[in-house]
Amino acid sequence: MAAAPTKTFYLETFGCQMNVHDSEKVIGTLEQQGYSQVQSEEAADLILYNTCSIRDKAEQKVFNRLNDTKKLLKQGKKFGVLGCVAQQEGEKIFERAPYVSLVSGSASYRKLPEMLVQLEAGDRRVTGLDDKATDETFVTEFTARSNKHRGYITIVEGCDKFCAYCVVPYTRGRERSRTSTSVLHEARQMADAGFTEIQLLGQNVNSYRDPEAKLSFAELLAAVGEVAGIRRVRFTTSHPRDFTPEIVQAIDAVPTLCDHVHLPVQSGSSHVLGLMAREYTREWYLERISWIKAAKRDISMTTDIIVGFPGETAQDFEDTITMLAEVKYDAVFAFKYSQRPNTPAIHMADSIAEEEKSVRLQVLLERQRALQKEHYGRHVGQVLEVMVEGQLNARGQITGRTSQNKTLNFTTTQMISPALGSYQQVRVTDSFPNSLVGEALLP
Ligand code: 5AD
Ligand code: SF4
Repeated sequence: MAAAPTKTFYLETFGCQMNVHDSEKVIGTLEQQGYSQVQSEEAADLILYNTCSIRDKAEQKVFNRLNDTKKLLKQGKKFGVLGCVAQQEGEKIFERAPYVSLVSGSASYRKLPEMLVQLEAGDRRVTGLDDKATDETFVTEFTARSNKHRGYITIVEGCDKFCAYCVVPYTRGRERSRTSTSVLHEARQMADAGFTEIQLLGQNVNSYRDPEAKLSFAELLAAVGEVAGIRRVRFTTSHPRDFTPEIVQAIDAVPTLCDHVHLPVQSGSSHVLGLMAREYTREWYLERISWIKAAKRDISMTTDIIVGFPGETAQDFEDTITMLAEVKYDAVFAFKYSQRPNTPAIHMADSIAEEEKSVRLQVLLERQRALQKEHYGRHVGQVLEVMVEGQLNARGQITGRTSQNKTLNFTTTQMISPALGSYQQVRVTDSFPNSLVGEALLP
């Protein structure tokens, strides 16, 4: 009997870890519906882009990509736009790119099987856009995790914070958490399948509210860290408003919780923080940082910063710069402000010239690079545990990741190179602004 013809799809992901993990869930769902994934647009019947609209540039990427690929349509291919641009632009995408026949935001993915049936029936405009106010989360047992050792679990979706610059509440809908029972069930399943590292995800991961009211976020962290077989737990992204001393206490108490907190500050100026509607001041943020610094463990801190927000004066920017040395961040993700549709800040004049934004970004990145060079130096001489994530490179080094989420490239005298996903003890011998170098200790 001839094998049934396989329906094929190609999926490309833009944006954050939430999107990367959504794609893993979408892939699993499509496979369950009889589709198989291919690695090129040419080989696919269905071409999907899981999109990001956090900044202007991210959004442009998708339309550029659609333009580049549309010539493939001659061969009868179907296009779908998923994710944040899909939710934001909705049916307008059909006007802008008429060859697209599926548009779905993340809050509608649980309806994907039905949408695929419509698509296969020849429907030219299939949408999943009407669920922004849903209480439901996208949980599927078919998640196709791309890494065998380290995997994501979404614990909270959406956002209710409405910062003035941010599209997320409009693209991912309102905040909704999964039950701690379902999160712990997934964590145990992953441990049974051989995963040793779990990364808990949420746009505001620490805004987690257990619908069963059994566990707080800090308690859930600890419980995931105590799942047998799990050696590392990460969580991202934390919001300062919901950051509690209990989170730091959990990290101190449970060794599997990684010693890293990503806590976006966005600006070091209370004036700008007010304009951004972040609902905290510089001092309030620094108090949270002081809790982290008071921990028994050396907890690494990283952040996100926006430069050139409307109304940011030279003094405001200077306040952001002084924040860098005051906190001692190990990494800073900095962005030039860009206006986003639907956001409150769209009504503020985008008052800082593009060139000035570029200058501020450059100044900030250079300052941070100099500071990071110093900060990374503190590890020289230490023995750190790494998870191996890259095989021998041309320099004879193997790439590992530390609990603090730092890259540590190391050499080894072992005859057999350590396996991907294994853990090694490495003595740090040198440091750079973005990575460490070391030698593996013999087991
Ligand atoms: N312009 C520039 N950067 C932004 N971010 C979010 N919205 C915008 C915007 N409109 C940044 C924030 C956020 C990170 C993911 O992207 O720093 O934390
Ligand atoms: Fe991009 Fe934000 Fe959507 Fe993530 S949630 S894909 S960062 S717009």
